[in-house]
Amino acid sequence: MKKNKIIIANMKMNGSLSFNEQYLSKIKKNFNNFNSLNIGLCLPYPYLFQAKKILTGTKIRWGSQNVAKFENGPHTGEVSAAMLEEFGSKYVIVGHSERSTAYCESDENIADKFEKIKKYKMTPVLCVGETLIEREAGIMERVVSSQIKAIVENYGEEIFENTIVAYEPIWAIGSNMAASPEQANKMCIFIKNLICSRHNCNFINFNIIYGGSVNSKNAVQLFASEGLDGVLIGRASINFDEFSHICSVAEGI
Ligand code: PGA
Repeated sequence: MKKNKIIIANMKMNGSLSFNEQYLSKIKKNFNNFNSLNIGLCLPYPYLFQAKKILTGTKIRWGSQNVAKFENGPHTGEVSAAMLEEFGSKYVIVGHSERSTAYCESDENIADKFEKIKKYKMTPVLCVGETLIEREAGIMERVVSSQIKAIVENYGEEIFENTIVAYEPIWAIGSNMAASPEQANKMCIFIKNLICSRHNCNFINFNIIYGGSVNSKNAVQLFASEGLDGVLIGRASINFDEFSHICSVAEGI
């Protein structure tokens, strides 16, 4: 059976009550007919209630861009997985490079967050990827392996069941220099084999998507890549027309 394609929007620190009201209403009106897509919008925390209010009853799901690794307690400024779940969140981005570099997030922290998201029955969207220097040095596979290993060593491969891994090379994010479909495909197949190495692939059912400068022009080729189950979209997701174009392309493939 043909799998639905996954499209996750990383809205980053954008939006406002009035922007979202219009944007989410347009999505509700125009996106509900995409039958072969699983679409998720990852918003800033304060707007989860708004997404829940507008999108409940549609096929579009929502979620956040981070979560605390703790259950609750004295962690000023943090938001727990239980809180995200209360707002109907489905997708939670974890390990995005804009966070791990700016806030020195370790692979172990990311592993604990991944586990909390699963515990509350939401879907982690785990971001992994190398810097340009690492790619030029030819060590991209080693870098990505060590990011994934932290989760496997702490929680076992089985924790990847029903999750999403997003290959997001750091050099491609916000740069207008997307990875080529061949580069993306190769790394996605590598990641799939890595996680399934000790198991039969049919046993661990998870998805691999690509992120980094995805737009309406490069989407066709990316969606046509065998190894990719979908895309993670940053900038292009907050431009309704561009986002809608990408979804139409995916629906038509
Ligand atoms: P971009 O961002 O599409 O703007 O490159 C992708 C991301 O950061 O997830």
